[in-house]
Amino acid sequence: MAEILAVVNQKGGVGKTTTSVNLGGYLAQAGRRTVVVDMDPQANATAGLGIKVAEGSPTVYEMLLQQVTASEALKATYQKNLNALPSTPDLVGAAIELMDQPHREYRLRRALRDLHEHFDMILIDCPPSLGLLTVNALAAADRVLIPVQCEFYALEGLKQLLQTVEMVKQHLNPNIQVLGAVLTMYDRRTALSRKVVREVRRSFPGHVFDSVIPRNTELAEAPQTGRTIVDYAKHSRGAKAYEHLSEELLSLYK
Ligand SMILES: Nc1ncnc2c1ncn2[C@@H]1O[C@H](COP(=O)(O)OP(=O)(O)O)[C@@H](O)[C@H]1O
Ligand SMILES: [Mg+2]
Repeated sequence: MAEILAVVNQKGGVGKTTTSVNLGGYLAQAGRRTVVVDMDPQANATAGLGIKVAEGSPTVYEMLLQQVTASEALKATYQKNLNALPSTPDLVGAAIELMDQPHREYRLRRALRDLHEHFDMILIDCPPSLGLLTVNALAAADRVLIPVQCEFYALEGLKQLLQTVEMVKQHLNPNIQVLGAVLTMYDRRTALSRKVVREVRRSFPGHVFDSVIPRNTELAEAPQTGRTIVDYAKHSRGAKAYEHLSEELLSLYK
């Protein structure tokens, strides 16, 4: 059975896509058959994984509308064990088209059943909102991974999100659990970064990964090459941080 992990935060630009793609890269390198599901119409994960969606090729959009199965929409990446369910900006339309359809919150969950036996890890890269696409991700997920940018108001955002997860637990997915928060874009030279790390750890003991992702140029550059950091710059500090995160995550499943 695949483990389904939603990478979620209602804020944009906090490192959800960077985390989905590069954590996915290291899980794949560790031999886990991995899928990154691009649930964001900005389709950054799709591009970051080097996938160009050909005209007429099925994506998450057709999958959510039940026109194709997950296996049919699945694409291999250049990296062994690393696959993607790609998206295009058309995905915006799915949220609207699903609005009056039955079981609209459970479309992703249903679709992913098709992949359960064939994969170990499914990472869902969520859009920066709490709309129907994110609700689908939370309804499908076993656990939630929350990238938290080391910035002012990080804690407030995290508290709101944990309340949302609690609501999803009560109404849509009783099994969902918060795996933890990952601090991202850490800059050791700034007092603010250090303060945010301290505060988040103090407020959520036991729910914050030891791995902290530094602000790192190579992590920002890799997406333009369509390669994960595993391939683009494996000796960079950013790569080491995601490798460490993948090890920490896998140790939780032993
Ligand atoms: N650790 C990091 N160091 C440097 N740049 C980063 C880092 N994490 C993300 N970025 C960059 O910041 C921007 C936002 O990150 P992204 O992962 O796309 O956030 P989100 O998916 O939450 O919107 C992107 O341009 C990305 O390349
Ligand atoms: Mg993103």
